[in-house]
Order: sequence, then structure tokens, then C-alpha cells
Amino acid sequence: MDGVTSYPDLADKVVVVTGGSRGIGARTAQSFADQGARLAVVGRDRQALDSVASAIADRGGTAIPIAADVTDAASIAALADQVAEHLGPVDVLAAFAGGQGYPARSVQLTEQRWREVIDSDLTSVFLTIQAFLPGMVERRRGTILTMSSAAGRQPSQANLAYGVANAGLVMLTRHLAVEPGPHRIRVNCLAPSTIRTEKVEQNMPTEVQEQVAAMHPLGRLGTTTDVASAALFLASDAASWLTGLTIDVAGGRITN
Ligand SMILES: NC(=O)c1ccc[n+]([C@@H]2O[C@H](COP(=O)([O-])OP(=O)(O)OC[C@H]3O[C@@H](n4cnc5c(N)ncnc54)[C@H](OP(=O)(O)O)[C@@H]3O)[C@@H](O)[C@H]2O)c1
Repeated sequence: MDGVTSYPDLADKVVVVTGGSRGIGARTAQSFADQGARLAVVGRDRQALDSVASAIADRGGTAIPIAADVTDAASIAALADQVAEHLGPVDVLAAFAGGQGYPARSVQLTEQRWREVIDSDLTSVFLTIQAFLPGMVERRRGTILTMSSAAGRQPSQANLAYGVANAGLVMLTRHLAVEPGPHRIRVNCLAPSTIRTEKVEQNMPTEVQEQVAAMHPLGRLGTTTDVASAALFLASDAASWLTGLTIDVAGGRITN
């Protein structure tokens, strides 16, 4: 694919992308498929999943759409069974599902919404990794990618629960990188700033997009390809001595 580096070691790898039905996950799934990897694209919207899988097939790739709710352990167990049956052992898990970052004043955030956001953006990743990590440890092979956000690195317009969940994902990544490291499993995290997904295009007026773009030293918003490119690199052998890292895919808008 144009503008994306080639990683021959990713060919034929089995890759699971949660949040693969749209946005960053869909683009990442396409990018792995373009490298010759075999994909499971995961989300709840069957129609969107079918459309991503068909687009991958149209470009000569292999992808199976699997509907699952990653906040539900039983649903994830069924997902893991389907992946094993149709694709075999998983080499790369990209746990990208989430995205409940809508702005809300902290004092107005209800307990119910707090729990929903933590469930959707943090507990879901724990549950997903729990389902796939044991197989990786057994085979002494595998790479996990988690998806945090600039909102987990510094206070932002996003709601408090989203910021806390995404900060939690950074520590989840560092912590998990330590335990399975001796089994040669790597765990890394991406923390994008604003990415021009369909959702951002729909919800952020053009003038606001321009203002936000200007806050980034590189002077533009990120693209889904920017994130997918970082994901390919971290999953590839080019990053074979990198683990526990969080990469700010943020056009230079970083504070640490
Ligand atoms: N866009 C940004 O600017 C940005 C910046 C920083 C971080 N991120 C992070 O990047 C990730 C993807 O964001 P995006 O902007 O691409 O969002 P998006 O377009 O809203 O896509 C969200 C994806 O997550 C899936 N998902 C959400 N909850 C799920 C659940 N319970 N079970 C299964 N799938 C679920 C959705 O699937 P269905 O709709 O099919 O259920 C969809 O594929 C999120 O974790 C988000 O926090 C995004």
C-alpha cells in the first residue's frame, strides 16, 4: 500500500484486530492484510465487519469478520474459538476496540457512565488479552498491541473516565510486558492524538479540526495510516527488542 513500509516477516501471520469494523482498527486490519497477514476483524456491527472483510478480499487479502462484544468474557471466549478454528494460533493481537472519549464535565459524569467507559476502554482490553495471551505463552511466540490515547497522557477535552482508562492502558502494557517477556512475548501500546476517522470527520466541525491541527507541531491531524504504520512496525521483527513501550502517534504533541 502507498506510503506504508513493507515487513516481509508479517506475511502469513495470524492477526486479530478488535475494533476492526471501522476507523483506526479497520485501516490497521487492511494494512496487515496488505503485508500478507491473515486477519480476524472484530467488532459488534456485522454489516461494517462484512464490508471491511470484503474490501480486504477485493485487494487479494484474507480476512474473516467476527462479531463479538469485547466487554463480555463469554463473547471473547467464543471469538477465540472461532479464530482458532478458522485461522489457527494467533501471532498478533491488536486490542484496539474502544473509543468512548466524548467530552463531558467530570461533575456530570454518572457512576453508570463511568463504569461503562472503564468497561469499554480498559476492562475490555484486559479480558481480550486474557483470552489470547496463554496460547502465545505456550507457543513462546506473539505480539500484543494495545491502544491508548493522548487523553491518557495528559488532561484533555475527553471525559475523565476515558482519560483514566487510557492512562490505565499504558500501565497495563508496561506491567504485562514484564511477565511474558521471558516467553518472548512483546506488548506495546499506541497513544494517538486526534486521528481523522469517519467519527472525527462527522463530529468535529472543519474549523475545529483546523484549530486542533494547529496545536500539533507537525501542523496536521493524524490519519488512520499514521497509526496503522506504527502498529505494523511494533508488530514486526524490526521491533523485536521493543516491549512495554507507549508510542505517542501525535504529530509531536507530547508532554513527557
Ligand atoms: N480517533 C481518534 O482520534 C483516537 C485518538 C486516540 C485514541 N483512539 C482510540 O483508538 C481506538 C479506535 O478508535 P476510533 O476512533 O477508530 O473509533 P471508532 O471509529 O468509533 O471505532 C471504534 C471501534 O471499536 C469497536 N468497539 C467499541 N466497543 C466495542 C465492544 N464493546 N466490542 C467490540 N467492539 C467494540 C467498534 O466496533 P462496532 O462499532 O462494530 O461495535 C469499532 O470498530 C479506540 O480505542 C480509541 O480510544 C482514537
